[in-house]
Amino acid sequence: MEQVTFALAKGRLAKKAMELLKELGITCKEMEGESRKLLFTSDDGKYRFFLSKASDVPTYVDYGVADIGIVGKDTILEENRSVYEVLDLEFGKCKMAVAGKPEMKELLESGKFIRVATKYPAIAKSYFEKFHRPVEIIKLNGSVELGPIVGLSDVIVDIVESGKTLEENGLVVLADIEPLSARCIVNTASMKVKHDAIRNLLNNIEDLRRRENA
Ligand code: PRP
Repeated sequence: MEQVTFALAKGRLAKKAMELLKELGITCKEMEGESRKLLFTSDDGKYRFFLSKASDVPTYVDYGVADIGIVGKDTILEENRSVYEVLDLEFGKCKMAVAGKPEMKELLESGKFIRVATKYPAIAKSYFEKFHRPVEIIKLNGSVELGPIVGLSDVIVDIVESGKTLEENGLVVLADIEPLSARCIVNTASMKVKHDAIRNLLNNIEDLRRRENA
């Protein structure tokens, strides 16, 4: 049987994904423990896994070098690749939001020109476009909360999970954009060529989720 290849977003999501697969009896001893390796094969030889930067997962799946990707909805929206989003895995829950100093609420609601710092320029652009809002999007690569603190931007568009980072920096959520969680994406050709193997796996994940939620 043909192998099914997974691209996993390195870090917490990959760990959670492997825990989920383990519950389905898919184990991968070589991924356990500390290692800098990036490519692994499951103990039964049926699956391959590679760990990539989250934002590259949709690229690997789009090009078909991975059949399945496990990645956050934030990355799927930002990368906007031609892949099937087939399953909400219901872990890694957080939200995309506009945040800033409390006094920025008025500016945000005024419809006036606003400067937005973000790691997610595509998501921010499409959000403000919905309101036909004049906006300058400033792309940052991390620690986005600094934007409003040092005066680079009026607000940020970023992920809020516990809310701790905002709180510790004197910022608040000014508007919710979208709930986020880990999703399963599938390459469009793999969905046909490896249909049975992939459908089987997705059904098993859904069954497991249903049993856990019952
Ligand atoms: C993410 C996000 C926020 C923080 C939110 O950053 O960009 O900064 O986590 O989590 P919280 O609401 O639980 O505090 P990440 O840790 O990925 O670091 P980065 O900003 O340097 O990319």
